[in-house]
Amino acid sequence: MSEVDVTKDSAPGGDDLVVLENVNKHFGALHVLQDIDLTIARGEVVVVIGPSGSGKSTLCRTINRLETVDSGTIRIDGEPLPAEGRELARLRADVGMVFQSFNLFAHKTVLENVTLGQIKVRKAAKAKAEEKARQLLDRVGVGSQADKYPAQLSGGQQQRVAIARALAMDPKVMLFDEPTSALDPEMINEVLEVMQQLARDGMTMVVVTHEMGFARSAANRVLFMADGRIVEQARPDQFFTAPKSDRAKDFLSKILHH
Ligand SMILES: Nc1ncnc2c1ncn2[C@@H]1O[C@H](COP(=O)(O)OP(=O)(O)OP(=O)(O)O)[C@@H](O)[C@H]1O
Ligand SMILES: [Mg+2]
Repeated sequence: MSEVDVTKDSAPGGDDLVVLENVNKHFGALHVLQDIDLTIARGEVVVVIGPSGSGKSTLCRTINRLETVDSGTIRIDGEPLPAEGRELARLRADVGMVFQSFNLFAHKTVLENVTLGQIKVRKAAKAKAEEKARQLLDRVGVGSQADKYPAQLSGGQQQRVAIARALAMDPKVMLFDEPTSALDPEMINEVLEVMQQLARDGMTMVVVTHEMGFARSAANRVLFMADGRIVEQARPDQFFTAPKSDRAKDFLSKILHH
């Protein structure tokens, strides 16, 4: 499985956008990512599920190098992850990330939140950045909130701003780590709908979520993790109707009959 397939085109412009090969990561004695091999195609939507502590967040965080790995390689669009400096800042822009806690800049307006990275990292002119920010805010349904501060918005609105902020960098791939887990129930759908639309528009996405409805309707592939390993992966219809491993069966019975 970890043998390099020489017939595959992994050059920029190829179909493999995110490639992890034999990735291992420890936190002290804890082996949190174990021999992870994962190839995500351009335009693919991968939903990651699994028990608490199985390594889902760590997997996301290694893909945009918020965490280093101990061994193995990660490539985005054919390029290995840079270690530091300007290259790393650019990579972070290429890999958009949306967290459970919205992580907006509290002392900047919504509009400023969405223009800042464009101006600092992408070197966009202010007027251009604002034009793009307003388009994106409209797209996620919060155009009228542009001049407010994050604390003046609902959780669902803040999370949609966070998505707009990531999209403003023209990312190649978007990572979502439990983006709706901190939201009140009535706000979950407005965020999931934005994500559904992104998926339909062809964005490459890695989504850690407990929203199985989203997984069923938006994912091309469900990846089930346990104890730092990818235990099982399949198309959602296959995975949800006929999980193969006992770990996955057990997990599904707990979350689906909750
Ligand atoms: N910075 C850290 N230092 C030490 N241990 C960590 C650190 N971050 C995560 N861990 C441990 O690594 C393991 C995997 O954590 P991770 O956050 O990736 O799991 P998860 O699948 O996202 O869980 P959850 O569903 O609860 O979010 C856990 O045992 C966690 O306690
Ligand atoms: Mg997590």
